[in-house]
Amino acid sequence: MTKKDVLPDPVRRSMFAIGCIAVGAATAGFLAATFRFLVPNVLYEPSRRFDIGPPSDFPPGAVTFLPDRRLYVFNGPDGFYAISSICTHLGCNVKRGGPGFECPCHGSRFDENGQVAQGPAPKALAWYALSLSPHAQLVVDLDQQVSPEFRLRA
Ligand code: FES
Repeated sequence: MTKKDVLPDPVRRSMFAIGCIAVGAATAGFLAATFRFLVPNVLYEPSRRFDIGPPSDFPPGAVTFLPDRRLYVFNGPDGFYAISSICTHLGCNVKRGGPGFECPCHGSRFDENGQVAQGPAPKALAWYALSLSPHAQLVVDLDQQVSPEFRLRA
């Protein structure tokens, strides 16, 4: 080996530094991927059973729309009941229209019980179970559909 084959010291040092940075970056990437692998890929959905407040929040005769839950809560003469605002055609929010509901997207109409009065919606609006919690809160259970005769007396 002649003196001409050896790189000058500053060049060797900078090449060594670049090599160290590359190895460090590769190691950091490997460790990040390894630790990310240990974290489960889980989507946390809001609970399908939730309280909506005390019965006193729903005055007699009132129809209350809960937009974040996409739900209408009625306090009728026979008790409380909850009807989904999700149109069974393509999922738009139905609006109150007269005694029933109208879908602004494609014109479906539902009667006051959520039954289809005019398509294209293929099915009635869902009714969900309501109950009273031990803390006197109204609780909706989206996993429990009920018939339109359901009423909760609170
Ligand atoms: S989404 Fe309601 S009629 Fe189409």
